[in-house]
Amino acid sequence: MDSRNGSVSETPLDAEIESFFDSAPPLKDSAGIIKKLKEFIEYNSTPPGKGSPRRVVCVTSGGTTVPLEQRCVRYIDNFSSGHRGATSTEYFIKAGYAVIFLYRRGTFQPYCQSLPEDPLLECFECSDDSTIQVRQPHTEAVKRAVSDHHAAIAGGHLLKLPFTTIFEYLQILQSIAMSMKDLGSLAVFYLAAAVSDFYVPWKSMAEHKIQSASGPLDMRLVQVPKMLSALKKEWAPMAFCISFKLETDSKILLEKAEMALKKYRMHMVVANELSTRKEEVTVVTGNEKILVCRDKTQADSDVEEPLIELIVGRHSAYVKDSDL
Ligand code: PMT
Repeated sequence: MDSRNGSVSETPLDAEIESFFDSAPPLKDSAGIIKKLKEFIEYNSTPPGKGSPRRVVCVTSGGTTVPLEQRCVRYIDNFSSGHRGATSTEYFIKAGYAVIFLYRRGTFQPYCQSLPEDPLLECFECSDDSTIQVRQPHTEAVKRAVSDHHAAIAGGHLLKLPFTTIFEYLQILQSIAMSMKDLGSLAVFYLAAAVSDFYVPWKSMAEHKIQSASGPLDMRLVQVPKMLSALKKEWAPMAFCISFKLETDSKILLEKAEMALKKYRMHMVVANELSTRKEEVTVVTGNEKILVCRDKTQADSDVEEPLIELIVGRHSAYVKDSDL
């Protein structure tokens, strides 16, 4: 018997995790993803010209989907614009970390914050001789986005891996964690993605589009096992782990964050309320609750700047302690 979330479940967590992965459709290009991860981690373990290995952080970003049909027409989505993950990635890279950015396709990307919503169409124009040029108000923003992004990729600081479904997300997260295991305390997980809590197992999922003519939809969703436990216990036990807690009711936010910290043995839980998430977050640790706010005197400041500064400081102390 395994009791979680106050409820009693018949299935032990390991069996639930095994059943989730067994029922998942095979990940496309799994071998290619593992190869990229291996090369990225090897490169950052002995970066050229520099003696010491770089710290590596896996930043998850965006929401996972739960398909309702195998040939998917309909799905359930989890809200996240990807802003938190993309912006945090920039600050981690600035702090010298290598980032594995596991992101939902179509969500915010690092270095694109100052670009308009549809950059391709809004930033560029064709001149008479068919050359493409950047339109005047966007020149500086495009230059900065392109050069910072390309420098991060070329310097081996950024590896981007996309997902859409909960199946892809958890399979890739597992591969990342296994690849990072040998980094020990130099590995960080910053789990900002909004992850589905319920899913339809692949084998019991309708193959074709569900017909509305058949009447009301009666569908059983199974609970997605909390992978934080597996991550902490088995996949990368020495890693420094930060999870997030999102609530819309601020009255229960900190209590839920504290529960998650203890239950999943996280090093930190970042608690945020939906409507104020870009202004402030509270970082919950074993013995503190630290309010982190955006610098409101600066129009374009981000809450991620002081947040990542705090995390980097705590991670440094953790690395030092682990070395003793
Ligand atoms: O992207 P933005 O628009 O900028 O918004 C950022 C954010 C609000 C999405 C982000 O700051 C945030 O709070 N992300 C986590 C939201 C969430 O899904 O919380 P949760 O209570 O469902 O999950 C808590 C933690 O458990 C998360 O770190 C999640 O990765 C993890 N989890 C969740 C479900 C599951 N089955 N397994 C998990 O490991």
